[in-house]
Amino acid sequence: MLSKKVKDLLNAQVNAEFYSAYLYLDFSNYYKDEGLDGYANWYMIQAQEERDHAMLFIQYLQQNGESVTLEAIDKPDKKYKSFIDPLKEGADHERLVTGLINTIYGAAHKDNDYRTMQFLDWFVKEQAEEEENADDNVKKFELFGDDAKGLYMLDSEMKARVYTAPSLTLD
Ligand code: FEO
Repeated sequence: MLSKKVKDLLNAQVNAEFYSAYLYLDFSNYYKDEGLDGYANWYMIQAQEERDHAMLFIQYLQQNGESVTLEAIDKPDKKYKSFIDPLKEGADHERLVTGLINTIYGAAHKDNDYRTMQFLDWFVKEQAEEEENADDNVKKFELFGDDAKGLYMLDSEMKARVYTAPSLTLD
């Protein structure tokens, strides 16, 4: 049985993951409007991954006999002045999400809730990857994004990303 604290944090994470999906969808829409279809693709796929994360938290709660409360998702309200802005926002956002996962992990650890810690292990690893990818996007843009040819090359690279389902499955 999950403690109320852990249950509430897991439920809040459902909302945080859906918000991440919303935020990345907003990035995708921005790039689409700007004609950068590759970046639009990359963030569309990222939004799909975030939705998958939310579903995993829902499934985990339900597996543990808990009901899920879906709260309102905040409107993404970021204003982007240049192409690099969403990339930087994305990197900051992933660090924030890592903090949220760590908070749940800490609460589970305090409760000797090894089952939840084991579930969260996948997310701890995933966050390391997500932070690395987000930082890479910023770095590459800083290196090559100022020049039209460089931007074209980066956008083409972002277009190659394809969706893959998460490696974590709960039965
Ligand atoms: Fe669900 Fe990008 O972390």
